[in-house]
Amino acid sequence: MNLFNVYPRYNVTPVKAKDCMVTDDKDIQYLDLYGGHGVISIGHAHPHYLKKLKRQLDAIGFYSNAVQNPLQCELAEKLGQLSEYQKYNLFLCNSGAEANENALKLASFHTHKKRVVAFDNSFHGRTSLAVSVSDNPKINAPINSTNPKTFLPLNRVDLVEQELKKGDVCALIIEGIQGVGGLDEGTTPFFQELEKQCKQYDVVFIVDEVQSGYGRSGKFFAHQYHKVKPDIISIAKGMGNGFPMGGILISPKFEATYGMLGTTFGGNHLACAAGISVLETIEKEKLIENVNAVSDYFIKKAQKIPQVKKIKGKGLMLGLEFDFEVAEIRKQLIYKKHIFTGGAMNKKLLRILPPLTIQKEHIDTFFKALKEILNVYVIPVPRLRE
Ligand SMILES: Cc1ncc(COP(=O)(O)O)c(C=O)c1O
Repeated sequence: MNLFNVYPRYNVTPVKAKDCMVTDDKDIQYLDLYGGHGVISIGHAHPHYLKKLKRQLDAIGFYSNAVQNPLQCELAEKLGQLSEYQKYNLFLCNSGAEANENALKLASFHTHKKRVVAFDNSFHGRTSLAVSVSDNPKINAPINSTNPKTFLPLNRVDLVEQELKKGDVCALIIEGIQGVGGLDEGTTPFFQELEKQCKQYDVVFIVDEVQSGYGRSGKFFAHQYHKVKPDIISIAKGMGNGFPMGGILISPKFEATYGMLGTTFGGNHLACAAGISVLETIEKEKLIENVNAVSDYFIKKAQKIPQVKKIKGKGLMLGLEFDFEVAEIRKQLIYKKHIFTGGAMNKKLLRILPPLTIQKEHIDTFFKALKEILNVYVIPVPRLRE
């Protein structure tokens, strides 16, 4: 049987990994500034993570949500404490798309309305509701066009109000910082106005923190820069450090009823062990402080590179924008310099999503490599930054 060929893949085969380094089948070591797409939060093969997962596997790996699972409560308690959302409730699932699917469904149950407002260049996942509010026609099949939605540009409060006041909108969904789209984000006044208007027009305010959450932005959640409290927050990627898991944090104003949401695998014992060890490590190793320190260092170094037109994002969710497409730079970084980086829908943006444990020496390695590539392999024409 062949694999269904949907991924353009680099010709690299990782076989092991430790912290910020990935080793391939030819024993070549790569610096991981991509984190498997923002997934690796506490570093590959972190000893605490391994210990917890192995112990859990020896005890019980899975049982369904038909029985008690105190690990889910332990995870919820720790997550509430670190994110400062102690009063919210947690529903656990298996991926980011599924988290948004449940968030949107809950919004519709709650308001008895159907239409969703989302934003230009958004990405919320591949399942039916999540993909329908993702602004990319190429990944939407005809079957995904059934539920009503409206895309608006970021930072246009007037257009948001025009839509919300029509009275048929159940949810507004926005990424804390746009990931796949290319690291654009709403301003603080915009987020605050969204919160206000959602209250005024009985619309559920959902912030998708699947990528920007779990400390990656330099705060536990990116929306916490804006001092707003969404009704629902969706999470995934960094949550399990590679173990597939997702969830939604739900305001206490939503009433749960049996069967309203559900999943076979969500919140299983192994996932919870992974999730708890991630939170414990973020706290114990003060990883959010590390994010901020390394981020400042990265930005200062990036500002000195004339070919970099714009530096986008926050914390360790960063992008370097050039005035040419970066596909060739990414290729050279992997094959010549052995560094993984990410791309975006914005083809001129190089994305940096390293493990939150990354150190300044790694950033030095990256910039040395980038400068060599820019000078040797790509057009060696320095341009002034905007
Ligand atoms: C902001 C955001 N939401 C949702 C998703 C979908 O997550 P998953 O691939 O786990 O379904 C992603 C994945 O890249 C994302 O970046």
